[in-house]
Amino acid sequence: MAPGRGGYRQSLAAARIVFAARSALACFFGVSDSSRLIFTHSATESLNIAVNGLLKPGDHVISSTVEHNALLRPLHLARSRGVELTFVQADRDGLVSERDVARAMRPNTRLVALAHCSNVTGTVQPIGEIARSARQGGALLLVDAAQSAGYFPLDMEEDGIDLLAAPGHKGLYGPPGTGILALAEGLRLEPLQVGGTGGNASSPDQPEELPERFESGTTNTPALAGLKAGLDFLLETGMEAVRAKGKLLVEQLLEGLRATPGVTVYGPAQGERGAAVSFNLEGHDPATLGYLLDSGYDIAVRAGLHCAPDVHRTIGTYPGGAVRVSPGFFNREEDISYFLKALHELKSGKGRDF
Ligand SMILES: Cc1ncc(COP(=O)(O)O)c(C=O)c1O
Repeated sequence: MAPGRGGYRQSLAAARIVFAARSALACFFGVSDSSRLIFTHSATESLNIAVNGLLKPGDHVISSTVEHNALLRPLHLARSRGVELTFVQADRDGLVSERDVARAMRPNTRLVALAHCSNVTGTVQPIGEIARSARQGGALLLVDAAQSAGYFPLDMEEDGIDLLAAPGHKGLYGPPGTGILALAEGLRLEPLQVGGTGGNASSPDQPEELPERFESGTTNTPALAGLKAGLDFLLETGMEAVRAKGKLLVEQLLEGLRATPGVTVYGPAQGERGAAVSFNLEGHDPATLGYLLDSGYDIAVRAGLHCAPDVHRTIGTYPGGAVRVSPGFFNREEDISYFLKALHELKSGKGRDF
């Protein structure tokens, strides 16, 4: 049933579901006006709305050398339309320095745009410090929270974030095909697409009101109900408990990988990191290793460039890429042991290949 399209009870019930999901997510991300939390179909769509809706020819954007194509490609498209870009060089662990961001500021810097947590190395960027630099330089901050939303605490107001993009299907435990874009108070963006919104039907112009301005077309109410259920699960379980489990599995994984001769692990050696761990095994092509882990052991890893070629250029694994293991809340310590055993078998040439 389409929410916001009719005055009949079923449509109102659908609108209530969407409203409940919006309010819960707004509260979760520290967005005081829930109409400023827009539903999209993915983090990619959210990033496209942010970049296309905000930037004008002559604006300057600071990003980094460790971005996912979901941000990189909209930025490159913006460059072809007259936007200036600077990509701050991250270090070999994928870390961006706040000082380098501050140094890259220009009078026309409109936006600082970067991922909070890397999907390749799990590196966590100092978002709070970068937010301060952006603010001091008069720029807005866009955070790609695809790998961190639901895993690390994020609060738009406390963290000084102006635009926050996240998918529903990762750390928020929602279904694929859902995403959010949260906008700070006072920001006005052009929509990516226009059309029917259920209100202001007599005007040929897209409404100014949020969230309708960015939500043309019929909303996927069942998916948003699923996203709300995912967030409820996260809140009931506790984000700290989810992260503690992730940390345990990642530490077990890192320890096992580092103890394996011929393995190179990428990303920070110490400190906080997300749940993505990438590695290479000397003498083994990552794509073949990924295939053998799947076909012989039913272990799902992602091999190659992970839609983030610049990350691999930065960490020195371009063009072959790496193998990425991302333990989730529903994995167990036995799963990590099983993976490490499989890797040892493959390394010794005794691996199963079905
Ligand atoms: C860092 C990062 N940004 C953006 C995306 C894109 O997310 P989505 O597939 O929801 O568009 C991903 C997906 O893995 C990601 O890891």
